[in-house]
Amino acid sequence: MPIVIKVLGFSVALTLVFTIITNLLPQVEGEAPQEKTFDPGAFTEESFVLLGEDLFKGKGTCTLCHNNMGRAPDILVMNMGETAAERLADTRYQGKATDTESYLRESMLEPSLYVVKNYGKKGSKSPMPVINKAPIQLSEIEINAIIAYMQVKDGNQMTVALPTATPPQEKTKTVQALAENAEAAISQYGCTACHAILTSESEIGPDLRNVATRLSSAEIRQSIIEPNAVITEGYSPMMPSNFAEQMKVKELEMIVQFLAEGGQ
Ligand code: HEC
Ligand code: HEC
Repeated sequence: MPIVIKVLGFSVALTLVFTIITNLLPQVEGEAPQEKTFDPGAFTEESFVLLGEDLFKGKGTCTLCHNNMGRAPDILVMNMGETAAERLADTRYQGKATDTESYLRESMLEPSLYVVKNYGKKGSKSPMPVINKAPIQLSEIEINAIIAYMQVKDGNQMTVALPTATPPQEKTKTVQALAENAEAAISQYGCTACHAILTSESEIGPDLRNVATRLSSAEIRQSIIEPNAVITEGYSPMMPSNFAEQMKVKELEMIVQFLAEGGQ
């Protein structure tokens, strides 16, 4: 544990130096968020916290607002344990949180439940986006990692549980019924919004009715689960990259087979 704190302390210090340097340069805001894949079964406390830091500064876009420019509380330099205790003691506080972890989670999932003084928009709504919804859309594991980071960076105890090999999303997935066939899966996942397939003539993405003439089954599978690995010439990389998380393996295989057999 002490080593973790040392390492993190150092990384926070480095971050501060970086923040100061980058704030001196005008055009640094809005770095492209990077997608990272991870094996949920393989985390240690340290790697989980580092994932959280990565998400906080990258994909989560938290530092676009939470920085030293005054748009939002500067979480990087605040002790979030003490902050949570102060918020919970505020007479304006009407949420359900009881400790640091639940306060941080609530701030991210229901930002308007309690709006930090001087930061509210008219009607006392929070300007902060709900971060498990589009466009940020973090998963439960990612949210936990960010909470772990916000706890440990200040030397507070990490109370969130490390993810297990079966991530929680997988449990909710089994609740949703398996699509009956490839056509049903293609409609359910909205492929028709961008591709010409089934009754759709959309031209945002390549025509999928003849994709078998261009790609092998393996390439079709990759195009769906890692759409940005190879970008089809003449198109921009705008295909959602979270189908692998959303789809059941069977659905993916039905779609791949259907497309590989000519998409009719
Ligand atoms: C568009 C700007 C914006 C983004 C992006 C944003 N926030 Fe916020 N956040 C705010 C503002 C403004 C507040 C203060 C108002 C409030 O309480 O909701 C806030 C409040 C918070 C609080 C409560 C802070 C306190 O002092 O009690 C936490 C925790 C938090 N945000 C975490 C995050 C995390 C983690 C992310 C990234 C996943 C994030 N925010 C992304 C604007 C943003
Ligand atoms: C928001 C629009 C959008 C959605 C929704 C979408 N795609 Fe795509 N897709 C694209 C674009 C744009 C490309 C080309 C750029 C690229 O390769 O990422 C593409 C590329 C592909 C390719 C490679 C085609 C080729 O000829 O190289 C396949 C296969 C594919 N998509 C299948 C799917 C399937 C299956 C779904 C539904 C599960 C889907 N797409 C949903 C936009 C979309």
